[in-house]
Amino acid sequence: MSFYIGNIEVKNKIILAPMAGVSNSPFRILARKYGAGLVYAEMVSDKGLLHSNEKTLKLLYMTDVEKPMAQQIFGSDKDTMVEAALYIDKHSNCDIIDINMGCPVPKVAIKAQAGASLLKDPDKIYDIVSEIVKHVTKPVTIKIRAGWDDNSKNAVEVAQKAEAAGAKAIAVHGRTRSQGYSGFADLEIIKAVKEAVKIPVIGNGDVTDGPSAKRMLEYTGCDAVMIGRGALGNPWVFREIDAYLKDGTMVDKPSNEEIKEMMILHLDALIELKGEKIACLEMRGHGPWYLKGIAHAKELRYKLSRTQTRDEFVEHINEFFK
Ligand SMILES: Cc1cc2nc3c(=O)[nH]c(=O)nc-3n(C[C@H](O)[C@H](O)[C@H](O)COP(=O)(O)O)c2cc1C
Repeated sequence: MSFYIGNIEVKNKIILAPMAGVSNSPFRILARKYGAGLVYAEMVSDKGLLHSNEKTLKLLYMTDVEKPMAQQIFGSDKDTMVEAALYIDKHSNCDIIDINMGCPVPKVAIKAQAGASLLKDPDKIYDIVSEIVKHVTKPVTIKIRAGWDDNSKNAVEVAQKAEAAGAKAIAVHGRTRSQGYSGFADLEIIKAVKEAVKIPVIGNGDVTDGPSAKRMLEYTGCDAVMIGRGALGNPWVFREIDAYLKDGTMVDKPSNEEIKEMMILHLDALIELKGEKIACLEMRGHGPWYLKGIAHAKELRYKLSRTQTRDEFVEHINEFFK
């Protein structure tokens, strides 16, 4: 089941996606604990790193239990991206440096000409990747989308350029930038990328359970699956996929008791990292994800959206799940 990204062994085929505001250290610990073989940290801006922006530097926080871990950077200028990669290479204990070439949000892809915008210029991708590879010791990977839009689905060309430039793996989200999150991930393009390069290809898009993971792996031939939205409020997804891929076992969904305990565990881990106030604010996002599909949780969701302290949070949850 294992594969290598450069010299880094990934012990299974199940990977946590980078998600801004979500894939921080506490969540990555949960993902690893429940069976992710590799976790990606959310993107950090090259310029933020170079200007020693306090918020950006805090995003680099990680612990040894998360390893192997990939730290993602984004930017559009080769020189500052090399500087940022060098900074990560020296100062972060992560195992892999990933470059974001798929982010569709206007602030990144249009205003900053970073993220998915890079897909419009495969030669620039070659330059950025080869220059970073020359300067750092950790393996360098890229994460891309199928292309900028339907008329420019160039993931295969981009993947070949990145491989030639020395990238050690490529994650492909099978949607274009213009698709955003609509429609479905195109497995054909992931398959075409896998057939076009020798380095590991990580299939991404719409994997939410064992059967969808198996389909991605079998249809595209990719080396591993990457899970984003399917892990929101659901760190158990990694254990479910792991069991299903091993022998088709369908693991029971978590009980309400397990969900309650996980929500408190997640809150406590966030408190340790960010303090009670910010942790409670962040749990306003995670809470509804954990409660998805649970009947009569509307009032609890409302209460959690106003909760400011751990005590209140635990009281609301205990009352609901009693
Ligand atoms: C809340 C959120 C934040 C995201 N942040 C990032 C990011 O920082 N870097 C990145 O490459 N992709 C980011 N993505 C995209 C995911 O990594 C992934 O490619 C996408 O969600 C498709 O996979 P999925 O269908 O499993 O969700 C983000 C997605 C979500 C939902």
